[in-house]
Amino acid sequence: MSATAEKMRHGGFDVDLIRADFPVLHQEVNGRPLVYLDSGATAQKPEAVISAMADFYRHDYANVHRAIHALAERATRAFDGARARVGEFINATDTREIVFVRGATEAINLVASAFAVPRLRPGDEILVTELEHHANIVPWQLACERTGAKLVVAPMDDAGDVDLDRFEARLGPRTRLAAISHVSNALGTVNPVKAMCGLARDKGVPVLLDGAQAMPHMAVDVQDLGCDFYAFSGHKLYGPTGIGALWGRAELLEAMPPYHGGGDMIRRVTFDETTYADIPYKFEAGTPHIAGAVGLAAAMDYLDAIGMDAVWDHGVALLDYATARLEEVPGLTILGSPAHKAALISFTMDCAHASDIGTILDQKGIAIRVGHHCAMPLLDHFGLGATARASFGVYNTMEEVDALTAALYKVRDLLAG
Ligand code: ALA
Repeated sequence: MSATAEKMRHGGFDVDLIRADFPVLHQEVNGRPLVYLDSGATAQKPEAVISAMADFYRHDYANVHRAIHALAERATRAFDGARARVGEFINATDTREIVFVRGATEAINLVASAFAVPRLRPGDEILVTELEHHANIVPWQLACERTGAKLVVAPMDDAGDVDLDRFEARLGPRTRLAAISHVSNALGTVNPVKAMCGLARDKGVPVLLDGAQAMPHMAVDVQDLGCDFYAFSGHKLYGPTGIGALWGRAELLEAMPPYHGGGDMIRRVTFDETTYADIPYKFEAGTPHIAGAVGLAAAMDYLDAIGMDAVWDHGVALLDYATARLEEVPGLTILGSPAHKAALISFTMDCAHASDIGTILDQKGIAIRVGHHCAMPLLDHFGLGATARASFGVYNTMEEVDALTAALYKVRDLLAG
């Protein structure tokens, strides 16, 4: 357990202790202390993750599942241990249900190619919501193009909530899969995914949840949610880039053909025929991101030591405070007001384009994301091409919200007629 975790176990959530664990935060940008409000795009890394990966490369690194020398055995143990750690973090019943992938995008593409395409016939349907990130739209469009199936969309209202009745109405006899974001990256909406999974299950429709934006904010229990697939990325979870996981029910994964071919995913290869390894290895062709898995496990240890309930509570406190402060800024409009919301705020200002807001904030050392957030259909709903988005992490403070608010007043002073 890290020193921070040990102290917090006794003293409760302490954001100063957490900040001390993130080396990158302790710098000036454009002559101002860095205020990092872009964790929705990617989260910064605690020392525990950085050193777990560096130590692994320094002492234990070798390829996995391929040799019997000492380093290979240590690396294999670390990699397999990381898989078990991921399973524990999301309460999977079986470690074989964890497939390491590059991130949520690859996880969704894997399910689209290996689960959906072989089952889809012309006229079949894939159901998504209007809130999806492009990563949970485009793979299904590709699957539809290949099979003659069609994409069906459950609409959201202006608050940014999916209407459950309309969602249920779109679960029809031809629906073969529902693919739903757990948390919207563009609005912060926490979808009622447990209820949505229940509605789908009643109609025999399997559900994939895109958990990329949910995992950093809340405890995720795949059994309790009742989904069939859950996809997430390590880099938004304070872990490394290039690693993430797909959780899938064992019986579904077992019935799926491989996604990629290559080494480590086979049982036996001849020029006439190849037979495949068991799950999850069947889906992990080639040398995996071994150190990434080690770093991801370290990130999960770090978050569990803080406690995911405390992480959620801190996010809610930041969100409530930031919402109140930003609402004070004349001409600023917050996009959406969903019933349940994770710690991010999308907004526009009547005096400034989103990219002007981002540029002026950057001059003040404040990092936010501006643009369409890879959710163009969602922005189309609001008649917008871009918003500014402040997204919060475990290390953000109320003082940083004050700095954001002051900088937005400055945007107004500079640009309002
Ligand atoms: N999907 C990431 C975001 O929302 C990159 O910023």
